[in-house]
Amino acid sequence: MTSHLSSAWFQVTDLQVESGEGCWVTTVDGDRYLDFTSGIAVTSTGHCHPAVVEAIREQAGRFIHAQVNCYRHDQLEPLAAKLAELAPGDIDTFFYANSGAEATEGAVKLAKHATGRPNVIVFQGSFHGRTHLAMAMTTSKTGYRAGYAPLPSGVFVAPFPSVVGTDAEVEAEVDRCLDYVRYLLAGQTAPAETAAMILEPVLGEGGYCPAPDRFLQGLSAICKEHGILFVADEVQAGFLRTGTMFAIEPSGVQPDILVMAKGIASGFPFAAIGAPKAVMDHWAPGAHGGTYGGNAIGCAAALATIGVLTADGFAENVNARGDQLREGLRAVAAEHPVVADVRGPGLMVAMEFRDPATGAPDAARTATVIAHAREHGKLLLMNAGTWGNVIRFMPPLVVDESEMATAVDAVAAAVAATA
Ligand SMILES: Cc1ncc(COP(=O)(O)O)c(C=O)c1O
Repeated sequence: MTSHLSSAWFQVTDLQVESGEGCWVTTVDGDRYLDFTSGIAVTSTGHCHPAVVEAIREQAGRFIHAQVNCYRHDQLEPLAAKLAELAPGDIDTFFYANSGAEATEGAVKLAKHATGRPNVIVFQGSFHGRTHLAMAMTTSKTGYRAGYAPLPSGVFVAPFPSVVGTDAEVEAEVDRCLDYVRYLLAGQTAPAETAAMILEPVLGEGGYCPAPDRFLQGLSAICKEHGILFVADEVQAGFLRTGTMFAIEPSGVQPDILVMAKGIASGFPFAAIGAPKAVMDHWAPGAHGGTYGGNAIGCAAALATIGVLTADGFAENVNARGDQLREGLRAVAAEHPVVADVRGPGLMVAMEFRDPATGAPDAARTATVIAHAREHGKLLLMNAGTWGNVIRFMPPLVVDESEMATAVDAVAAAVAATA
């Protein structure tokens, strides 16, 4: 059959799906799969959570598109007030957008207006999106940038401490990375020209690598010293994915700008940029915008999603299932030296494959394990990492104990079959 779809989308599977419910998707052939992709860490409340479906249905009957420049609808302020309750520190004012890339670009635009400075510092292995500036800020794979030069200038790349090793080795790497940021500020982008540092507290596409707390705290101190804004890109890690509402919380660091998308609205395209009012007020009316930002259904979906995520016992389940997953994967790793590392907070968990003899990243084995889990365990997984040698586990946060046990068994069988 001739396809009229663009060839640009890479395919994780060739499954044709008909419906989704909770952690499961059903294909047109009636096969059911346990979906540990969550549509790339989006459907945190599971597919078609009844509360989210009902909120969308109700809102669609009243207003689909009440454009924010033309008039104001009644979901805008309640959502902003809720986000102000949840966001770290004194972030209390919000701009709404439609996608992660749009929001990361918007955050940089805000930082430029707020500081009057042109440049940004990003970190090796980051993914911030597919638009031109977001692409220039993305270094997780060359494939995301190849063939698109020239990319916007004013982006400087610092190393991210993603080393797997002893505590002492990690500490040394944190020092090296912080020193490199100081070196960048002395040698390439002067503080007076640096608007922001933008960082994923847990690298997503880059391989599910958590930033050590001391690294986040060190960066925050450097930012404060020089009047540089600290932008946390929590597009993938936010909204309880890591077991806290935002991944940066355990470090105690308060970002100046927070970028949110993915898990915020259970799959309805929605994103937000948050900042303290004093920072956000640097945007005069008309300085930024967009036709669809603040879409009424998106706001309703986000409010319903937040209602689910903040219900009693919900966060406890995320952390308990995360512990169950890490424990299960570590038991597999203990038997199979091809597994070099199991890491990650909450339900943002990585299993990394390397050749035990050489330490070389093993993308081929990673792909084989994913394929085996799909074919024999009916479990859907995705990879991550610059070398494609990481399986990232990002199940819906509603996953229960028996679903998690099923997934761990499928991975154990897949690793055993390929080891
Ligand atoms: C951390 C991070 N930032 C930004 C983006 C871009 O989001 P979107 O695909 O919605 O543009 C992603 C997408 O994976 C992401 O993981």
